[in-house]
Amino acid sequence: MKFGFFDDKNREYVITNPRTPWPWINYLGNEDFFSLISNTAGGYTFYKDAKFRRITRYRYNNVPMDSGGKYFYIKDGDNIWSPGWKPCKTELDSYECRHGMNYTSIKGEKNGVTAEALYFVPLKTWAEVQKLTISNNSKDTKKLKIFSFLEWCLWNASSDMENFQRNFSTGEVEIEGSVIYHKTEYKERRDHFAFYSVNAPVQGYDTDRESFIGLYNGFDEPRVIVEGKPKNSVAHGWSPIASHYIEVELKPGESKDFIFVLGYVENKEDDKWETKNIINKKKAKETIAKFDTTAKVDSALADLRKYWDNLLSVYSIKSGDDKLDRIVNIWNQYQCMITFCFSRSASFFESGIGRGMGFRDSNQDLIGFVHQIPERARERIIDIASTQFPDGGCYHQYQPLNKRGNNDIGGGFNDDPLWLILGTVSYIKETGDFNILDEMVPFDNDMSVARSLFDHLTVSFDHVVNNLGPHGLPLIGRADWNDCLNLNCFSNDPNESFQTTENKTKGSKAESVMIAGLFVVYGRDYVELCMRTGKNKEAGRAQKYVNAMVDSVKKYGWDGEWFIRAYDYYGRKIGSNENEEGKIFIESNGWCTMAGIGKEEGLCVKALDAVKERLDCEHGIVLNNPAFTSYYIEYGEISSYPPGYKENAGVFCHNNPWIMIGETVAGNGNRAWEYYRKICPSYLEEISELHKTEPYVYAQMVAGKDAFKPGEAKNSWLTGTASWNFYAISQFILGIRPEYDGLLVDPCIPGDWKGFKVTRKFRGATYSIEVVNPDGKSRGIKEVIVDGKLSASNLIPVFGDRKEHFVKVVLG
Ligand code: GLC
Ligand code: GLC
Repeated sequence: MKFGFFDDKNREYVITNPRTPWPWINYLGNEDFFSLISNTAGGYTFYKDAKFRRITRYRYNNVPMDSGGKYFYIKDGDNIWSPGWKPCKTELDSYECRHGMNYTSIKGEKNGVTAEALYFVPLKTWAEVQKLTISNNSKDTKKLKIFSFLEWCLWNASSDMENFQRNFSTGEVEIEGSVIYHKTEYKERRDHFAFYSVNAPVQGYDTDRESFIGLYNGFDEPRVIVEGKPKNSVAHGWSPIASHYIEVELKPGESKDFIFVLGYVENKEDDKWETKNIINKKKAKETIAKFDTTAKVDSALADLRKYWDNLLSVYSIKSGDDKLDRIVNIWNQYQCMITFCFSRSASFFESGIGRGMGFRDSNQDLIGFVHQIPERARERIIDIASTQFPDGGCYHQYQPLNKRGNNDIGGGFNDDPLWLILGTVSYIKETGDFNILDEMVPFDNDMSVARSLFDHLTVSFDHVVNNLGPHGLPLIGRADWNDCLNLNCFSNDPNESFQTTENKTKGSKAESVMIAGLFVVYGRDYVELCMRTGKNKEAGRAQKYVNAMVDSVKKYGWDGEWFIRAYDYYGRKIGSNENEEGKIFIESNGWCTMAGIGKEEGLCVKALDAVKERLDCEHGIVLNNPAFTSYYIEYGEISSYPPGYKENAGVFCHNNPWIMIGETVAGNGNRAWEYYRKICPSYLEEISELHKTEPYVYAQMVAGKDAFKPGEAKNSWLTGTASWNFYAISQFILGIRPEYDGLLVDPCIPGDWKGFKVTRKFRGATYSIEVVNPDGKSRGIKEVIVDGKLSASNLIPVFGDRKEHFVKVVLG
């Protein structure tokens, strides 16, 4: 069953039934100022950091689900309704929500009146603009009462939820004309406030929640609206809100726009006040003036659309399959931008107070984003590397507002450092900018111990070399990529976090075969980088370690039919046929086949076949099999999840692309594609009632074959799945891959594909690529024609001449 449809021309998903199986959300803003918005206008807003600078309040896991947001209420006679159906839930005559590229528009119709609310954050603006268009389609003149509504958060989203003995006394607002200002804590330690304005005179307002809603009412039935009259309340403590009240009369056929601006301002210490205790509103007024007419708002939206036209023009495909084209050209790239912005911090599954930017996560996010805005990727690489320690280890997460490593989480995840090599190499291959390697980058944000980014890569590489276990394989530390394989935790205290508790590291023999594969892949990248920068001696040194790792994996990491997963604290195998549960895991098989370890001896093909046989199911490839059915204290969190969910045999979509890529390394285009298609959301739209999360973005996890409800997805939006799937399809299946010296065209597709076309902008030129497949091959190049001339290689050179070049590749 579907709840809407894709409008590819406008790059929108159009939801036509507000009762989606889960709130289907979108993100507004892509630099400093952000909002999450659901298809019924639920959600919240923050500046840079969803934990430390939350502007509007949101209660997760609420009843009903997704209550609270940026609401408009319309009172037409005694009838009260909202364009997004919620919160009033008055049955609408029609409803439509369009989620587009960083904007959302929600339109409802009731008794001859339509209300359409467009929400977006204009480029380079610290504000969300809302254009509310009210139209009278009836034959009678309509006298309507309109109420806006949002609820302020007292800035720190975490203490906002906890410290009520203080919070209920601190709230402060100012009201001037049609603008409501939220200034809690501005007089002491904050230099910022927020505001909510409308470009029309108001006939009243409310700023105190209890006065507006009533203590015993809900968002669906605020007392003021039922009574039809604002209270002009001024919040003192309790819960400050912002609600404008506007009376509007519309003749038949008449329509009016109201423009609301929800903004954020920072003032310098000596410029904070107009007069004593009256805030300096200059910047707020400037922002409001920028968007005070329909024409200005429409032009800001047009700019945003142009911005996305440009971003999405870098990689686009024409395959003849709409589902593939829309996910590659629009939604997957869009999701990559969102994960770049938020890492794993703020979604409808990530509370925004739990996690900051992840070291491994953000590096991986770059591989799906770097082609969009390389300069921002560059800045991000430096920010991430700045949280590294001199020995190559690193904070697992950092906070975006201050860019400092997060002490509560700490470090010790031994895969983390290697991802910095991936991020950096991807950036250089995209841009050719080797200078980034010379940037001076601090350790733990201490500039006095800064070293070049290249040196950071060296310590990343050496962090593995210096932390090897008894089999010459990398020690796992707290965990590797799989956060839940906690081999040194031994926790039996339910109040301990598996993530941050490490009880038994000393003398541990726990090693990770996954990190071994990762090390071989990125170790080779490191070696190549050394050679390209003239560090041949270092290249030689590093290569020896890579070779040794390959040997160790062959010797101690091979189980006969597949690669084992790890050795536990005691030095016993995990992910081996010897185990009763968890005999085989996806991660080590993905990384070791991507690394091509034992390819000549046939190990890769065997491992991939074992994955197919034991891990593949209707909904994708599960993480491990058989699922754990009891708690193994020596394995940790992985065995705490019920079978089929999350890291315990869920289809963890992030790692499926590793097998897809492994299959392309083995030349098996049919299988790579089959795996791709299985978890790709645009192909799952028809089963939305089962899949549950948005059909336009990937979810982190789909319940696996052992689950109570196989096929049900969770944790949509913020997941490495986004970038890895884009990487797999764009660079390995379609095979258009940036290399240091040019753009490689090396597809690995299903044999029955006739071909496809890709346009790729790369280092200042446009490559119009046509791949044809007359002989029904999956892989292999018969002929390459560049600008009409036969070419000896499928590595297309860097032209950098701002021109379009035509590339035809014949498979065979
Ligand atoms: C989550 C984390 C990621 C981790 C993965 C597997 O998605 O954000 O860092 O690698 O789970 O446990
Ligand atoms: C849990 C999740 C994992 C996530 C981690 C982050 O262990 O299973 O996916 O990465 O928490 O703290």
